Amino acid sequence: GSNKPPEFSFEKARVRKDSSEKKLITDALNKNQFLKRLDPQQIKDMVECMYGRNYQQGSYIIKQGEPGNHIFVLAEGRLEVFQGEKLLSSIPMWTTFGELAILYNCTRTASVKAITNVKTWALDREVFQNIMRRTAQARDEQY
Ligand code: CMP
Repeated sequence: GSNKPPEFSFEKARVRKDSSEKKLITDALNKNQFLKRLDPQQIKDMVECMYGRNYQQGSYIIKQGEPGNHIFVLAEGRLEVFQGEKLLSSIPMWTTFGELAILYNCTRTASVKAITNVKTWALDREVFQNIMRRTAQARDEQY
């Protein structure tokens, strides 16, 4: 056989959602100063591949200094951002967070803690990177 890693399957990474959810996630991604510069088709692909992830009150969604594996959008609940013990801010509803470690390939710049039970939409880093690499041709073939 071939030693090539399995090819990324956009169809497999897709998670069904209703159009009102998609609209909210799209707007959240487009509010982000880095992501809003992407090709609109890449934003669409990100929205299609995001999946729901819930966190319990008191848990850490992101820990400062760790490698980053996901980008998130806050859909429900309250999140606070810390550096060490210092509270930096809370995250407004329908905001993207956890994007810095993914975009800049650095470790998490801060910790993000669930102050209430929280619902997020998450996107895996490998899927994000594949979406960034997907050519117009690959998209035409799959849609
Ligand atoms: P990342 O560094 O991947 O993980 C921690 C996230 O917290 C970071 O991405 C940003 O999304 C967010 N973040 C970092 N610093 C601040 C801040 N000062 N205010 C609000 N959010 C922040």
